[in-house]
Amino acid sequence: MISSHDARLRSVIVGLGCYLPSRILSNADLEKTLDTTDEWIVQRTGIRQRHIAGEEERTSTLGLKAARAALADAGLNADDIDLVIVATSTPDYTFPAVATQIQAGLGMLGGVAFDLQAVCSGFVFAVATADKFLVSGSHRRALVIGAETFSRILDWNDRATCVLFGDGAGAVILEAREGNGTTADRGVLTTHLRSDGRHRDKLYVDGGPSSTRTTGHLRMEGREVFRHAVSMVTDVVQAAFASTGTTAEDLDWFVPHQANRRIIDASAEKLGIASEKVVTTVDLHGNTSAASVPLALCVARNDGRIKPGDLVMIEAMGGGFTWGAALIRW
Ligand code: ACO
Repeated sequence: MISSHDARLRSVIVGLGCYLPSRILSNADLEKTLDTTDEWIVQRTGIRQRHIAGEEERTSTLGLKAARAALADAGLNADDIDLVIVATSTPDYTFPAVATQIQAGLGMLGGVAFDLQAVCSGFVFAVATADKFLVSGSHRRALVIGAETFSRILDWNDRATCVLFGDGAGAVILEAREGNGTTADRGVLTTHLRSDGRHRDKLYVDGGPSSTRTTGHLRMEGREVFRHAVSMVTDVVQAAFASTGTTAEDLDWFVPHQANRRIIDASAEKLGIASEKVVTTVDLHGNTSAASVPLALCVARNDGRIKPGDLVMIEAMGGGFTWGAALIRW
């Protein structure tokens, strides 16, 4: 008899890969063109530098490189994947989806590929979506990518926003594997997603195909976003703890969306998560929107912090507003 726990499918992370464009833009570089200082940027955000995509690089270029790295990490071929989800708010074109371009770039002849748009929460939303496909048994292996070129939608004369963002991509491969239904299982243990469209004007892009017929630029009421961020993030993380009977003490790593060092620190403190468990890359990458969480996972896995069996909480908050968390046993 199988105690009180039932055998069930889990979405286990079997591969991870990332890509950052080679060009680095430092705060000192920005001082040359903007009325800003390294001191202001570091003190308010923790950001010291960000990567900027080259002229020939597009979101699909970045995402494809991260996808190839994740496949190599997993020891898999493109044909082993039957689901591709790309989280992005900066697609190469209005359509087709970045995901189908990456599908073609990988030489995939089967499976299904589509984009998902939840701004900075996109990767968490995409992991949650892929998890639903995999645990239903309809698909076996998902390639989930967060890829962004926010440098292309910034107003480089607006010092309040352009210093905050950067470009990059990260990808994970999730595989459906049998678990026993407990929190000791490897894989995605729970996901919690939320949105509230009333906050549109606090964080948006002022253009699009059906309104201005242009791409537009990112606009943000930074102070207002900041005001909501901590409570939204802690709400979904606490929901993830409650639904799995876990606590901040059980957590090995907290991998938050990398928007602002002060939001990360305040969230961890409110949640009672020890600072040494918090993975922070905002200093090196800036806010890469949907790419920020997989990029941070890469850094912490590659430097030996995240190991198989570790309990990892990812979370994000972004335009919409959207926000979400996922608890994963690595
Ligand atoms: N350099 C120097 N001064 C600046 C800069 C800059 N780069 N940017 C703004 N300032 C000035 C402002 O003009 C203002 O000057 P004033 O007082 O003379 O009017 C002053 O600094 C304070 O501006 P605030 O906007 O109030 O500064 P604040 O302390 O709120 O910090 C920041 C701004 C960093 C944007 C912060 O509000 C923040 O991080 N907000 C959250 C952003 C976020 O988390 N976004 C996540 C989601 S992103 C997504 O989904 C795409």
